[in-house]
Amino acid sequence: MFVPDEYVFDYINKVSSLDDDKLKKIREQVIGYSPMARAGVDRFLAFMVSLLRPGRILELGTFIGYSAILMATYSPHSEVVSVEINSENYIRAKENVKDSGCNNIRLIYGDALDVLRYLDGSFSFVFIDASKGHYNEYLDICLDKMPEGGVIIADNVLFGGRVAMSGPIPHKHRTIVKRMREFIERIMDDDRLFSCILPLADGLAVIRYKGD
Ligand SMILES: C[S@@+](CC[C@H](N)C(=O)[O-])C[C@H]1O[C@@H](n2cnc3c(N)ncnc32)[C@H](O)[C@@H]1O
Repeated sequence: MFVPDEYVFDYINKVSSLDDDKLKKIREQVIGYSPMARAGVDRFLAFMVSLLRPGRILELGTFIGYSAILMATYSPHSEVVSVEINSENYIRAKENVKDSGCNNIRLIYGDALDVLRYLDGSFSFVFIDASKGHYNEYLDICLDKMPEGGVIIADNVLFGGRVAMSGPIPHKHRTIVKRMREFIERIMDDDRLFSCILPLADGLAVIRYKGD
């Protein structure tokens, strides 16, 4: 499997970790593999929300709250709404949000696809980080809730490099790879969107909604 130069990530991790005690404490709650936004991705998210200062931010996939707290911290005037399907993660995220002192975060327990259908209002910034097989559906619903000029960031779009590989894909990864490729084609071809892919960590898609 293609692995993007690990020493590059090590270097980025070393020089760009965020100097924030409450965020560090949340990182330390997970030993070993962690699905939290990796160093570099977290700084990029912090950079983007502090630059754009969106009124409302939507996150799909809270895990234990790291990226929600990060975005709420770096864009304190935004309201961050974050959706998580796993009850244990949701409860831990609630505790972490409470401990963080951020009062601009609303956590919702449920399946992102269901929640998105009833969620009111618009979001000018969306971070997609939930089920990798459903990015196309998330995109459709998020665009319906997005003003012109809104930005979507989707994590893991290269799925460990497999999305960019030629040749046969192991059966267990085939559906996600196929759907991620469709997602990437879609964000590049849709005239309403202007998108780029950053080979940062597991691959980030950055999408700007130009309007209809
Ligand atoms: C990569 S983790 C999120 C990490 C988090 N954004 C961070 O950087 O701190 C993905 C999370 O999405 C949740 N998830 C998966 N499918 C989901 C769905 N359909 N709806 C909501 N959450 C989902 C998982 O339970 C997991 O906690």
